[in-house]
Amino acid sequence: MKNLNYLRKKLPLTVELRSDHVLIIDQTKLPGKLKFLKLKKYPDAISAIKEMQVRGAQAIGAVGAGGIFLAGYSYKKNNASDFYKYLQKIAKEIIKARPTAVNLAWGVKTILADLEITSVLKMKAEIKHRYKNILEQGVGHNLKIGEYGNTLIKSGMTILTHCNAGSLSAIWFGTATAPIFQALMKGKNIKVRLDETRPWLQGSRLTAWEMERTGIDYTINIDSAVGYLMSHGLVDMVIVGADHIASNGDTANKIGTYPLALMAHEWKIPFYVAAVSATIDFSIKTGALIKIEERSGDEILRDIRYKYQPVSPQGAKSFNPIFDITPHKLITGIITEYGISKSDALNLIKGRV
Ligand code: MRU
Repeated sequence: MKNLNYLRKKLPLTVELRSDHVLIIDQTKLPGKLKFLKLKKYPDAISAIKEMQVRGAQAIGAVGAGGIFLAGYSYKKNNASDFYKYLQKIAKEIIKARPTAVNLAWGVKTILADLEITSVLKMKAEIKHRYKNILEQGVGHNLKIGEYGNTLIKSGMTILTHCNAGSLSAIWFGTATAPIFQALMKGKNIKVRLDETRPWLQGSRLTAWEMERTGIDYTINIDSAVGYLMSHGLVDMVIVGADHIASNGDTANKIGTYPLALMAHEWKIPFYVAAVSATIDFSIKTGALIKIEERSGDEILRDIRYKYQPVSPQGAKSFNPIFDITPHKLITGIITEYGISKSDALNLIKGRV
């Protein structure tokens, strides 16, 4: 039977607290190898985020908070105020590792929020306690997203997703995949289509790995096949994740999400965003204020699967923004741990976050 135990066996935790370190799945090795990486010091957390060994909004938030835990754990002096200042300095450093996903700053700020300056020992214990909570609650929220999202899915449906907003992008269970896993556990007969997601191939490397391991019927297409798929009736619903959602519902997600939403609108296909409420940034009004990360052009000009062999002429120019903003009017609804909200009515959950 495909229940939570089954999924837990098939999909290891992406981020886990062990006694003196944080254990993550090294996503750069997938799908070829399932390799775990021990983060022992806070710079390990920063480098894992920068090098994309961990990626995905909730997962980098969890590793960012883990960086604070690690910085605290290895702190050797006894002055509580100095300890507090040290943690604030590390927090700034961690937040800079990647600019778009609001969850990174959220994780780091949440673990330090209103931390009382008592003694170093007590503060360390409090930080560990908070870290455990962040990890547990993150999974709990994703399970809730699964329950709400599953109500939208009927047996026989084909769901398309973009990038990896799966278990690997989260602490576990994922956000866009949560309704899919829940539908699987309910015995619904569903098919999943995966955009390969250039240039990092999070769809064909990572989401496909999750679908393969859990036994979900999946098919990979290139990103630009979406017009064909939708115009031929091959997609019933789209569910994507999010890295940063503005108060008005405008959503930053992996590059290619915006054209996908436009195409879904053209073909009247429901387009849902699934994300934990920590991804909503009530401090900004619209998506125009979201900082979009640009990465090295080598990710386009070279083949990331084959040791960065060139695939373009030497001297070619490239431009590699890795997120785009989908305007809220193209989003049918946003699925959070609180339920399914109209994308322009997020203020209804503001008071609950
Ligand atoms: O660059 P990444 O892989 O960290 O990008 C983030 C994402 O995985 C996606 O945009 C995803 O759809 C949302 S993360 C839950």
